[in-house]
Amino acid sequence: MDRQEIIKKTELFVKKTLSEDSTGHDWWHVHRVRNLAKRIAWHEDADIFIVELAALLHDIGDYKFFQGDEEAGTAKVREWLSSLEISSSLIDKITEITSRISFMHTLPDKGKVRGKKNSAIPILSKELMAVTDADRLDAMGAIGIARAFTYGGFFNRPIYDPAIKPSKSITKEEYKTTEAPSINHFYEKLLKLKDMMYTKLGRKMAKRKHRFLNLYLKQFFKEWKGKM
Ligand code: ADP
Ligand code: NI
Repeated sequence: MDRQEIIKKTELFVKKTLSEDSTGHDWWHVHRVRNLAKRIAWHEDADIFIVELAALLHDIGDYKFFQGDEEAGTAKVREWLSSLEISSSLIDKITEITSRISFMHTLPDKGKVRGKKNSAIPILSKELMAVTDADRLDAMGAIGIARAFTYGGFFNRPIYDPAIKPSKSITKEEYKTTEAPSINHFYEKLLKLKDMMYTKLGRKMAKRKHRFLNLYLKQFFKEWKGKM
C-alpha cells in the first residue's frame, strides 16, 4: 500500500469512528489539527507522513472513549496501523505520539507533592512536538472557546459560577472528573498552553490566541458585572 492510500484509508477510518462518538470529539477538530501539524512539521523539518498519520489518529486513542483506560486507546490505534501492514518501527513512532499527546499527561498524579517533578527529562520527537502543538493550539483562541463551551454544555456544566474557584494545581484525577463551570477550564488549562508550546511556529501562534482568550475573559467579566 502506498503512503497516499494509507492516509486516505486512515482518514475514512477516523471519520467513521468519530461519527459514532458522542463525547464532543469531532472530525473537524482532527481536520484542523492535521493541517496545522503538517504546517508546523514542515517548519521543523519533521517527517510529514508520521505527523499526518499521528494527527489523524490522535483522538482515536483518547482515554475518554474507553472509560478512562488509556492503554485501550493505544491498542486501538496499534490495531488499526497493523491492519495497514506498515512496519512495526513506524507503528511504534505513531503510537508514541498518540499516547503522549494529551494535556492530561502533563498534570501531576493525585497525592504527588507539588513542584517535585519527575527528574527524567522526556525525549520528544519533532513529530510529537508538531502534533502536540497543533492539538493544543486548537484548544486556544476563538475555536478553543467554542470547544470549551461545547464540552461544558455536553456534560451539563454551568458557564460560570463565582462560588466555584478554579483549581490552582489541578491533578490528573481532578482534570478527568471535574464538574466545574466551563470558565474555570480557561484557568485550569487554556491559559497555560501558551507556555507549553514546543515549536517556534507554535509559540508564535499561541501568543496571538492567548491574547484573544484574555480579551474574551475581560469582556466576559465586564458583562457579568453588568458593564457593557
Ligand atoms: P486533550 O486532547 O488536550 O487531552 P481534551 O480531550 O481534554 O484535550 O479536551 C477536548 C476539548 O474539550 C478541548 O478543547 C478542551 O479544552 C475541552 N475541555 C476539556 N475539558 C474541559 C472542561 N472541563 N471544561 C471545558 N472544556 C473542556
Ligand atoms: Ni485533539
